[in-house]
Amino acid sequence: MKLKDWLKKEGNGFSDRDLKFLIRDFFSKDINSVLTEDISIDQKFERRMNMVLQKYSCGMPMAYILGREDFFGLDFAIDEHCLIPRPETELITERAIEIINLNNFDDILDLCCGCGNIAISIQKTIPRKLNITASDLSKPALEITKKNADTYKVYLRLAESDLFNEFENEQFDIIVTNPPYVPKQDIKGSLVYEPCLALEAGEDGLFFIRKIINNAHLHLKDKGFIVMEMGYNQKEAVAGCIKESGLYDIVDWIKDYSGRWRGVILKVKT
Ligand SMILES: C[S@@+](CC[C@H](N)C(=O)[O-])C[C@H]1O[C@@H](n2cnc3c(N)ncnc32)[C@H](O)[C@@H]1O
Repeated sequence: MKLKDWLKKEGNGFSDRDLKFLIRDFFSKDINSVLTEDISIDQKFERRMNMVLQKYSCGMPMAYILGREDFFGLDFAIDEHCLIPRPETELITERAIEIINLNNFDDILDLCCGCGNIAISIQKTIPRKLNITASDLSKPALEITKKNADTYKVYLRLAESDLFNEFENEQFDIIVTNPPYVPKQDIKGSLVYEPCLALEAGEDGLFFIRKIINNAHLHLKDKGFIVMEMGYNQKEAVAGCIKESGLYDIVDWIKDYSGRWRGVILKVKT
């Protein structure tokens, strides 16, 4: 069968982005070049493509079908134990990199690291050697972080830890975190394919954010920073938690590409 015939017949079943991603993954080419080239696919390959379409039609995200996702210009292996890295987290990572560079920071904690996307992107972007710890409660997620770190030849200290439990008496220059923040009742649609552990944060979605705000200062050096992601509708509630703690100055709020508030930068009060 010709690939362009398969695409004519089945291509509409995919979103543009996912179709591009699929073609690049399978053929290492962009969609326009496969449409102009006369590529034939054998039956085995056609079965593979149909299998992808079948899973995709049931709602499975393309990233889980292919076992990878782009983040910060890098290609991350993922599996069902990790969240699919999101574009808004790139903005969190970008701001963390700015702060690390400006302050010449060395000791970094990526709390709730998932597949290691934040930690690895930071070390791949900053040319000097950093001391980065990547921690998660999920052992299988940490295994994926290790795999990605090996792929990119980045050294990370990995820690299996329930938030700060393994970091007693340890202080970092900066804590970067994308914690779970989805209210239990909002886990529906394609989110059901992602690990509950990576999403669910109680009735109000603030279970982990609140815990981080109330405890991070114990694990930050003087003038240490937190860069934390949050849900698009949580700014007011997060501001309330910060105020209640009395521990930090708000340095900035971070917007996503659609102009929604998606993160906060905090500095320990001195
Ligand atoms: C929203 S995901 C973020 C993953 C990744 N950092 C990213 O940005 O794509 C949250 C992560 O927190 C982890 N997690 C959940 N509960 C935790 C806890 N109590 N302590 C540490 N990590 C936890 C999950 O396993 C998941 O990997």
